[in-house]
Order: sequence, then structure tokens, then C-alpha cells
Amino acid sequence: MKAKNCLIFGGSGQIGKHLIRKLTKNNYKVTVVTRNIHQKSYAIKTQGNAGFIDIVEAKMHESDKIIKLFKNVDVCINLIGILYEKDKSNSFNNIHSTIPSLLAKLSKQNNLKHFIHISALAINSAEDSLYAKSKLDGEVNIIKNFPLATILRPSIVYSVDDNFTTNFMTLLNRLPIFPLYYEGKTKFTPIHCSDLTDVIYKIISENIYSKIIECVGPEVMTFKEILEKLLKLIDKKRILIPLPLSMANLSAKLFEKLPNPLLTTDQLRLLKYDNIISGKYKTNSDIGVPSLKTFDVEVKKYAFMWRDGGQFSTEKYIGEEKIKNDKI
Ligand SMILES: NC(=O)c1ccc[n+]([C@@H]2O[C@H](COP(=O)([O-])OP(=O)(O)OC[C@H]3O[C@@H](n4cnc5c(N)ncnc54)[C@H](OP(=O)(O)O)[C@@H]3O)[C@@H](O)[C@H]2O)c1
Repeated sequence: MKAKNCLIFGGSGQIGKHLIRKLTKNNYKVTVVTRNIHQKSYAIKTQGNAGFIDIVEAKMHESDKIIKLFKNVDVCINLIGILYEKDKSNSFNNIHSTIPSLLAKLSKQNNLKHFIHISALAINSAEDSLYAKSKLDGEVNIIKNFPLATILRPSIVYSVDDNFTTNFMTLLNRLPIFPLYYEGKTKFTPIHCSDLTDVIYKIISENIYSKIIECVGPEVMTFKEILEKLLKLIDKKRILIPLPLSMANLSAKLFEKLPNPLLTTDQLRLLKYDNIISGKYKTNSDIGVPSLKTFDVEVKKYAFMWRDGGQFSTEKYIGEEKIKNDKI
């Protein structure tokens, strides 16, 4: 069987790196597009064996360069995404709607077998979030331009390369008290990054065409439960205090002025909505790729870096038994 050529946009990020490893290990050739080859090529090149990865530097407005990339490609995967708006060209609308729409159109014009796009879970309900609205608009545009596209809607994706567990463990390490937004009651279904890339691999290798697939991990956890688990894993005690919405809004307004904001007002609005399956769409389990990796076991593998003593911590490896007994 001829291996497929995969064109990946946004491949230098967390999901991209895991996906490159999965695809190249299985003899797929990948071309990864990045805006900054000098900064990102090391992280991309080291994910697979020589000969399986091509890296191209291109910005999305360089249409001649982008169009040429679609020749001799079987599958296009779009992983480009942002958590907060930076400027006009990095607006939610541009990144989550205009760019995916263009990539879907080019995939159709070049008769690609597949266009796979990563959207986000629970965007239907989060009506007042600009992030969610832009992800929804993107989905509509993609289906219009490439009706057989497959759109994945993952809950929070975690791994040692994430900006979620790692950032929270850093903050929990440093701050004596930690705010709980919406009393910490919002529910999440975190999925391990390699479980998500297994889903993408299955779609590509078995030619699955299914408009929307919700991708979730095996556990439903509240925001407070996630923080409690992380505290246990880094062996710290911290006070978690519910923050009134007015104060949460004020802090988000201040934070969003920072170059890499910890929280924006739009993220605060998004945090109000449970991040769980809707029941209206197929899930990763329905297509035969249930996520089996559990949060405690996976985060434990790298949480020691935030424990006292770091890699020299005698508690580097907390025994499976201790985790079970303590019910982290
Ligand atoms: N991580 C999660 O928890 C999660 C949950 C739900 C949905 N998602 C979605 O999954 C996708 C991938 O997530 P991720 O966590 O892997 O993201 P990530 O680590 O932040 O990587 C995002 C990628 O987007 C590219 N990018 C950002 N701005 C761009 C721009 N203006 N033009 C071109 N490329 C740009 C970057 O590529 P270069 O810098 O190399 O150009 C980067 O590799 C995103 O669409 C995200 O919204 C993620």
C-alpha cells in the first residue's frame, strides 16, 4: 500500500509534535508548515526519522507558497489555533475561521482524500465566547468548502508538552492561594495528547469520514478536582478559594494586558460552560478509539519536576498503590 503524504499546518505545537511521531512511525510522510523554521525546526525534525519529515516556512498570506504545498498531498491536517487574540492578523476570526476555510478550499481544489480539522468541545453552548464562536464559524466554512471533512472537537488536551497541566503546576507551586472560578464546578473531560493523535491516525489510516467527532478522556472532573489532583501530584498544600465573578473579571482584564496572559475575559466566559460530550455527535469511542489513559497516571510521569527536589526528589515516582490508596 502506498503511504499517504500528509500536509500539517500548526504542526509545531503540542498536538502537532505527537501527531508527527505517530504518523512517521507508521511510515507516513509529513510536510509541516511553520511560520518560523529557525525557531521551530528542531522541535519538529526530532519527532521522526530522517526522510519522513519536510519542513516548510510559510505565512498564511503567502498564497503562492501555500498553494504549491498542496501538490501530491493526500491528507491535510489543520492544527492552527490560538487561545487569545494578539493583533488583527492573529484574531480568532482569522485563525479559526478564515484560515481553515482557505485550507479546506485548497484541499478540495487539489482533490485531497481528507481534510482534518481540530475544533474544540462544547463550542455550541458557549454562546458568549468569541473563541467558541470563531471555532463554530470555522466548522461551517470548512464543511461548505470540503463536505467530507472530519472535524474533531477535543476537550482539554494534556501531556508533558501542554500549556495546561504544566502551567497550573507552576502556578500552584508558587502561589499560596489559588482562585476557583465559578466555584470550581465546571466539568472537564481531559484527553491525553497521544490518545487524541490515535484518533487522528485512525481517521487517516482507515479513511473514516464523519463530520464531527467529540474527543474525550475516560474521566469527568471539575476544575476544583483537577487542581486538587495536581496539588497531590506535586505534593503541595494550597488554599483554593472561590473568586466572586466581579473580581474574576477584574483580574482577567488585568491579566489580558500581559504578553502571555494567564487568563482573558473571553477565557473566563468559556470557563462557565461544562466541557463534556453533548450527546449529539459521535465520540472517539464510537469510532473505536476510546481514550484509556487516566489523568493521575499520565501526569504523574512528569509531575515530579514540580515537586521539591525536582528530578532528585525521592518521591519522583509515587507508587501506583499510593495513588490508588490516596484516591488522588
Ligand atoms: N491543547 C488543547 O487543550 C486543545 C483543546 C481543544 C482544541 N485544541 C485545538 O487544537 C489545535 C492544536 O492545538 P495545540 O495545543 O497543539 O496548539 P499549540 O501548541 O498552541 O500550537 C498551535 C500551532 O498554531 C500555529 N499558529 C499559531 N498562530 C498562527 C498563525 N497566525 N499562522 C499560522 N500558524 C499559527 C503555530 O505554528 P507555528 O508557530 O509553527 O507557525 C503552532 O504550531 C488548535 O486549533 C487548538 O485550538 C487544543
